[in-house]
Amino acid sequence: MSFTINQGEFVLVVGSSGSGKSTLLNMIGLLDRPTNGKIFIDGIDTTTLDDNKISSFRNKKLGFIFQFSNLLTDLSVLENVLLPRQIGGTDGTAEKDARDLLKAVGLEDQINKRANKISGGQAQRAAIARGLVNKPSIVLADEPTGNLDSVTSEKIVELMKSMAKKLNQTFIIVTHDRQHFGDVDRVITIKDGRAFEGDQPSMEVLAK
Ligand SMILES: Nc1ncnc2c1ncn2[C@@H]1O[C@H](COP(=O)(O)OP(=O)(O)OP(=O)(O)O)[C@@H](O)[C@H]1O
Ligand SMILES: [Mg+2]
Repeated sequence: MSFTINQGEFVLVVGSSGSGKSTLLNMIGLLDRPTNGKIFIDGIDTTTLDDNKISSFRNKKLGFIFQFSNLLTDLSVLENVLLPRQIGGTDGTAEKDARDLLKAVGLEDQINKRANKISGGQAQRAAIARGLVNKPSIVLADEPTGNLDSVTSEKIVELMKSMAKKLNQTFIIVTHDRQHFGDVDRVITIKDGRAFEGDQPSMEVLAK
C-alpha cells in the first residue's frame, strides 16, 4: 500500500479482523519495523533510524492509544496519565493538562484510584488521556472506543476531533465503529491485503 497523510488530518483505518490494521499502525508508530517498504514522517525515512533515534522520535512526535490499555497497575490513574509527560521532562502545566483530559474523558472522580481498581472501560478512557497528554503531533489509536458505551464513545470522538482542530494534530484511528466517528477527513479501508481510499464500494486502490 502507498499513501500520504497530511499534518492535521483526521483519518480512520477500517477493515475486517485480521486484515492488518494494528500491524499498519504499529509500523507507522515505529513499534514494528516493516520487512519491506519505507515509512516517512516529516520527510524522514523512519525505517533507517536506529533504536535510540526511534525512542526519541516516538516520545517527541507520537502518542499511542493501544487496543489494550496497558496501564501500570501500581500507579494511580493520574500518575499513569502523567507518565509520557515525565519522560520528556516535566513542566508546571503537566498536572493541569492531565486533570483536564481526565475530566474530558469522564474520569474526574477516579483520578486518585489505583489503575487496577477501575473498570476496563475506565482504564481505556485513562489510556486515551495518557495518549493525548504530550500533545503529540501524531496520535495513533487502535480501537479507542472499542469497549465503551455509545454516549462515552461520542464524548471521546468529540474530544479527539476538537484536539485535532485546536492543536493541528494528526489522528490515525483504527476502528470498527465507523458510524461513531461521523464526518472525518479520510477513511482508509484495508481489504485482502490492499489499502483503499474511502468506505464506499467504489473505493480507489492506494497502491502503485
Ligand atoms: N506478532 C505477530 N506475528 C505474526 N503474525 C501476526 C502478529 N500479529 C498479528 N499477526 C497476523 O497478522 C495479520 C494482521 O493482524 P492485525 O493484528 O494487524 O489485524 P487487525 O486488522 O488489527 O485485526 P483486529 O481487527 O482483529 O484487531 C493477522 O493474520 C495476524 O494473525
Ligand atoms: Mg487490531
